[in-house]
Amino acid sequence: MDIRPMGMKDLVAVRDLELLCIREYFEKIMENRWEELPTDWVDNLGASNSRSYRYYVEGGLSLVAEEEGMVTGFIFAQMVNHVYNVENMLWVENMGVHPYYRRTGIGYRLLQRCIDLGREKGAGAVHSAIQPDNLPSLMMHRKLGFFTDSREVALLDLQDKKVSGPR
Ligand SMILES: CC(C)(COP(=O)(O)OP(=O)(O)OC[C@H]1O[C@@H](n2cnc3c(N)ncnc32)[C@H](O)[C@@H]1OP(=O)(O)O)[C@@H](O)C(=O)NCCC(=O)NCCS
Repeated sequence: MDIRPMGMKDLVAVRDLELLCIREYFEKIMENRWEELPTDWVDNLGASNSRSYRYYVEGGLSLVAEEEGMVTGFIFAQMVNHVYNVENMLWVENMGVHPYYRRTGIGYRLLQRCIDLGREKGAGAVHSAIQPDNLPSLMMHRKLGFFTDSREVALLDLQDKKVSGPR
């Protein structure tokens, strides 16, 4: 198994795999059937959406795992500055491993390599977006030494019409 930088040539494979992982999660938590969700809404999901993918690739911190020419895992990450009093924070946006290849160490190695890269580029800390009810993800982060608690981030969606604009 090889871990290498994500490239534009991986777009289709990574898009399919990220949507597969998102779909898995949604089917656990949402009542809607995946097929009934509006296409434009699904198109915007994930870091591999058409507006974000190139940005992550060009940032140089996103990686894929490859087995015999096939993408088996991905991680999207970027450096963000001056958050939580940290000058350079490695922000892990999303990651996933194909169900067939899970629990073989791919997720761990992807995250470890991404952290090493971030450190080389001056990161002082790593922030990874996790759902507290996602046990495999939580356990993987803990195995790598991440501190986890019940911390959540409050979100205001400025695209939401119900959120009032300037007064
Ligand atoms: C979370 C995920 C990326 C882990 O990838 P993976 O390649 O299967 O994980 P690894 O084989 O590297 O496992 C590393 C460690 O994570 C923990 N872990 C992984 N899967 C687990 C499971 N099903 N149950 C409990 N612990 C688990 C274990 O501590 C494991 O170490 P061990 O095998 O020595 O016990 C994978 O389950 C996945 O793609 N899930 C769907 C998408 C997702 O949830 N993404 C995370 C968003 S933050």
